[in-house]
Amino acid sequence: DNVSSVKRRLAQLFETSLRETVPGEPDVVPIVDSCSDKSGGKFGDYQCNNAMTLWSKIKGKQTGYKGPPAVGKAIMTNLPPSEMIESCSVAGPGFVNVVLSKNWIAQILLRMLIDGIDTWAPLLPVKTAVVDFSSPNIAKEMHVGHLRSTIIGDTLARMLEFSHVKVLRRNHVGDWGTQFGMLIEFLFEKFPNPEEVNEAAIGDLQAFYKASKLRFDSDPEFKQRAQQAVVRLQGGEERYRKAWKKICEISRTEFHRVYERLGVTLEEKGESFYNPYIPGVLDELDNKGLIKDSEGARVIFVDGVNIPLIVVKSDGGYNYASTDLAALWYRLNEEKAEWIIYVTDVGQQQHFDMFFKAAKRAGWLPADDSLYPKATHVGFGLVLGEDGKRFRTRNTEVVRLVDLLDEAKTRSKTAVLERDAAKDWPEEEVEKTAEAVGYGAVKYADLKNNRLSNYTFNFDQMLNDKGNTAVYLLYAHARICSIIRKSGKDIEELKKNGKIVLDHEGERALGLHLVQFSEVVEEACTNLLPSTLCDYLYNLSDIFTKKFYSNCQVIGSPEETSRLLLCEATAIVMRKCFYLLGIEPVYKI
Ligand code: ARG
Repeated sequence: DNVSSVKRRLAQLFETSLRETVPGEPDVVPIVDSCSDKSGGKFGDYQCNNAMTLWSKIKGKQTGYKGPPAVGKAIMTNLPPSEMIESCSVAGPGFVNVVLSKNWIAQILLRMLIDGIDTWAPLLPVKTAVVDFSSPNIAKEMHVGHLRSTIIGDTLARMLEFSHVKVLRRNHVGDWGTQFGMLIEFLFEKFPNPEEVNEAAIGDLQAFYKASKLRFDSDPEFKQRAQQAVVRLQGGEERYRKAWKKICEISRTEFHRVYERLGVTLEEKGESFYNPYIPGVLDELDNKGLIKDSEGARVIFVDGVNIPLIVVKSDGGYNYASTDLAALWYRLNEEKAEWIIYVTDVGQQQHFDMFFKAAKRAGWLPADDSLYPKATHVGFGLVLGEDGKRFRTRNTEVVRLVDLLDEAKTRSKTAVLERDAAKDWPEEEVEKTAEAVGYGAVKYADLKNNRLSNYTFNFDQMLNDKGNTAVYLLYAHARICSIIRKSGKDIEELKKNGKIVLDHEGERALGLHLVQFSEVVEEACTNLLPSTLCDYLYNLSDIFTKKFYSNCQVIGSPEETSRLLLCEATAIVMRKCFYLLGIEPVYKI
């Protein structure tokens, strides 16, 4: 069978049992959960919670059961025999507790070591997904909000890809809109000869944007020219198209510098791409009777929101919403995506709520959110500075992302160089480690929080080697690798001939946590919550250190082979977590 999640395997067993327990009862969905968090695993590793709801369904009927505990007992007795299960018990009002067999856990671990961690990929009910993330605006600042979107979106894409979903990573850049009129006119003024325009000449596009905005706001004649420029650009006039392209190119180069540093790949399909599709899409919506006139604009009313969604502005122009409707249409019909995921700050929640509702009214998406195709807004909170306000650096208003990454690297390099072990590393190794740790720290500090909450950007905190930081985790991983190196054993050989034994409580706890990897990734994908995976990773390193390593001698013990294999399994799972979080592992400290 190709089910990799322990939880799903147990759910299959319980489903059989539930059918047996109440033969006539249709659609009983097994409710199975791991209990390591809740009860600390005191009563078992997993729990089935169907007895109570089942009882309330069958209460009036002639079933012979006298209450939820009796139903729980029957669920337990009817479980088909399985090598997975060591023992079961019924607790309280009918919870069925399951203790997994440690031999089975050991077997599963060994099989993963031999077949590879990809055999632990979860199965998701979608084949193709769009992750729309990063999506900065041309010539405007790429701010920390876009950094969050880039980091979160990349992780979601990685987790879905790991789960065999084909992911279309889309950079929905703001490359269309009225700001271009002003930018182009300003460009013409500054560079009468278009050949002269390049990144070096323009220098900082953000500064260029600001200067042109200043001009726009202060000179009515310029403003008028800028407004005409928009029309001429949208009308396709050659000179204007060329200038627009140039500006986009310069912006793109700058964005790419950030993506390259972060190891993020994505494909640009900016707002301009969808522009030709807008009229047809709006026609379709109009034919369905969705579009109404309102104060000169064309709008769509949706339930539960007292303002309408404007799809054609009163000046006849299209906007963010019309573009998003066209893009959704394209993604559903041309790209056949079943799940479309948008990663932006929570401030845009209403926009997404309204346009998803419009798409449901149009029949593009089912009204029931549990069905596919599905559109989901992945919102995130603000990045705050030490002062509790929106994050800014000392003298600039916005934080330049490149500077931020530079500083993270510089600081982590200093810390690396302070370590004795790094004294005789070649320069290249120091650089690589500094980057892995520095960028990893920035990413992890973002991802470990529930994305909806704001988080405070603090270099000292994120680069601390104690606590829940990337630095701590990367070093924990390096330490495990060094245990394996020091043993002098060939892991490949051990895998072939060795055996894993989980007799010590610490070994068992570690083994159990390891085999739960698949269901954690599944949960993180389902809820689009990278923090779920961060929690898992942090707990893994905690369990490794506190429960296993501090109690179970590895090198030179009679259990050396089994324990080395456990170390290897831990390192492999940690590396997969790092990979999914977009963090480069380090092997030495
Ligand atoms: N460019 C937008 C911004 O910077 C984000 C775009 C998000 N994607 C979308 N399809 N609306 O706020």
